[in-house]
Amino acid sequence: RVDPYGFERPEDFDYMSYEEFFSRYMVVLTRRAIKWSKLLKRNNGVQKSVKVKRYIRKGIPNEHRALIWMIVSGAQANMEQNAGYYNKLLEGEKNDMLVEAIKTDMNRTFPDNVQFRKTADPCLQQTLYNVLVAYGHHNKTVGYCQVSKDIIKKTLFLFQGMNFLAGYLILITKNEEESFWLLDALIGRILPDYYSPAMMGLKTDQEVLGELVRMKVPAVAELMDRHGVMWTLVVSRWFICLFIDILPVETVLRIWDCLFYEGSKIIFRVALTLIKQHQAFILEATNFPDICDKFKQITRGTFVTECHTFMQKIFTEPGSLSMATINKLRETCRAKLVAQGSTNNI
Ligand SMILES: *[C@@H]1O[C@H](CO)[C@@H](O)[C@H](O)[C@H]1NC(C)=O
Ligand SMILES: *[C@@H]1O[C@H](CO)[C@@H](O)[C@H](O)[C@H]1NC(C)=O
Repeated sequence: RVDPYGFERPEDFDYMSYEEFFSRYMVVLTRRAIKWSKLLKRNNGVQKSVKVKRYIRKGIPNEHRALIWMIVSGAQANMEQNAGYYNKLLEGEKNDMLVEAIKTDMNRTFPDNVQFRKTADPCLQQTLYNVLVAYGHHNKTVGYCQVSKDIIKKTLFLFQGMNFLAGYLILITKNEEESFWLLDALIGRILPDYYSPAMMGLKTDQEVLGELVRMKVPAVAELMDRHGVMWTLVVSRWFICLFIDILPVETVLRIWDCLFYEGSKIIFRVALTLIKQHQAFILEATNFPDICDKFKQITRGTFVTECHTFMQKIFTEPGSLSMATINKLRETCRAKLVAQGSTNNI
């Protein structure tokens, strides 16, 4: 009933087709594990290179995942250059409101994961608490530090996103300090300004996705326009939680492998693939709630569970997607948002 990461499987979990998929995936995993061991035995094995990028797209074996994430994201270098910094944050003076907000959120993080239960041994709640407290004092521009009590309620989903990210990092690295530095890589560098109080980066990227859909899957963009569905309604959680709780765990990890190496454009590749692959299905929607429901359904089922083929798809299905295109769209979308006055805090 519990998966290898400690998540309880839902009542209606389809064990038959999962077993069938996993026995095939095991073969891939074994082959990749052998290749990675060879790569890691060499010196300079994980310097950024075309080969390492290709290896990462095909999946990092779980036993090497934490190490590779640390190296390719620059977290390892930062941790080494700032020895003792993490502990100093934990031992230093604390902002009471920040601590209070984190405590309140604690119980809401992964209620379906046995490793985060009070009864678990070791219980990861304390680890999660430490990482979040340290991060909140490290980066004072993120939501936690800035908002007042009543705003906290409105931004809960943002915090929950950050808790989820930190929680996943802890599950994979099983190391508090590494989780902190990986969270720093994600929030501080890889994601453009998603977690600041005005969430400009997040709002911008949702609009950018809308523009990309207009270019690549115009019928869906037209449907959204016709029914007045804003992108933020259907995709904000994809961006905030980086697909945690949206897609199956194994698939999320494969996406993160590429995210740490290639950056935030991977999120657009995943989103576009989900939308393009299910274009006909989405276009069956005839009203607003129908559309929202379709966007939930396209994140479930065989297509997303089969993580290896899914990851091949994200590099072919959406077609070319250069960083230059994304940057240009980010610029125009941001300018539009600023003109509409969306820069205020929530
Ligand atoms: C979290 O849950 C525990 C028991 O499971 C409870 O004692 C505690 O008060 C809760 N904390 C908050 C802040 O809700
Ligand atoms: C803090 O987080 C914000 C929001 O994501 C980011 O833009 C900024 O670079 C981060 N600052 C530091 C010091 O990491």
